[in-house]
Amino acid sequence: MADVPVVARVKELRNFVQAKRLKGKSIGLVPTMGALHAGHLSLVEILRQYVECVIVTIFVNPTQFSVNEDFGRYPRQLTQDLEKLHEVKTDLIFAPHLEEMYPSDFSTRIIISGPAEVNLEDRFRPTHFEGVATVVAKLLNQAQADIAIFGEKDYQQLQVIRSLARDLDLSTRILAGPTLREADGLALSSRNAYLSDEERAKAPQLYLALCSAASLILSGMDINEALKQSTEIIVKAGMQIDYLELRHAESLAPVLSLADGPARLLVAAHLGKTRLIDNISVP
Ligand code: PAF
Repeated sequence: MADVPVVARVKELRNFVQAKRLKGKSIGLVPTMGALHAGHLSLVEILRQYVECVIVTIFVNPTQFSVNEDFGRYPRQLTQDLEKLHEVKTDLIFAPHLEEMYPSDFSTRIIISGPAEVNLEDRFRPTHFEGVATVVAKLLNQAQADIAIFGEKDYQQLQVIRSLARDLDLSTRILAGPTLREADGLALSSRNAYLSDEERAKAPQLYLALCSAASLILSGMDINEALKQSTEIIVKAGMQIDYLELRHAESLAPVLSLADGPARLLVAAHLGKTRLIDNISVP
C-alpha cells in the first residue's frame, strides 16, 4: 500500500478535496491532536462506512490549552501516527504548522455558550471551548467535508461542536464515535501516556465509579446518594475530583430525576499530574 499523503497547507487540502469532489467522492473528516490510539483509529473506521474518502487532521491546537495546562508536554508522535493511519486506510493527512492555522495577524475567536457554559469542563478550563470551537470551525471550513466525527470520550466537547455546527449552519454533519476502553475499563486517551505504573493501576476506578453510580441510580437510589458513594470510590483510589455529575445528555443541564430525559454521568479527576475525564450514558 502506498504511503498516505501528508499535506500542511490549507490550499493543498482544498485541492485534494476539490479533485475528489470532481470524481463524485464523499468526504469525511477526523479532527485530532495526534498521539493516536485505537479510539482515534476506530473513528476513521466508523467514518469509512459513511464516506468514500477519509481525511485525518493532526494539529495540537494551542488555543484550547490555558497557560498552566499541558500544551508543552502534550505527546507529539507524527511518525507513529502516520504508520497507524496507514494501517486503517486514510486518504489524506492534514498536519498544518502553527502559522498556517494562526498567522501572526489572526484575530478571530468563536465564543460559544449553551453546552459550553454548564459548570463542567468550563468551570476548570474557562477558555478551553473557545479554542476548540475556533479550531474546529476552521478545520470544518477548510475541509468542507460531508461528515466529521468526534469521540464521545470528550462528551461536553461533542455537544459544543454539535451546537457550533447547528448555530453557524455549517454544512458538515457531525457524527459521534463511542469511547473505546482498555480491558479494565480505562477510557483510551492520549493523556493516559502520562500515568505512572502505579497510577495506571488505579485509573480504571474512575470508570468503575461511573458504572456503580449508574447502576445505583437505575436501581432507584437517590441521585445525590449514588454520586456520594461513587465519589468515595474515586477518592479512595487517590484521585481528586473536579466534578462527578448526572446531566441531561443533550443540554448538559443538571438532572434531578431520570424522568428529566436521557441522562449522562460525567466525571473529571486528577490522578497525580494527570487529569482524566470520562462519561457514560444512564439509559
Ligand atoms: O478532541 C480533540 O482531539 C481536539 O479537541 C480537537 C477536536 C481535535 C480540536 O483540537
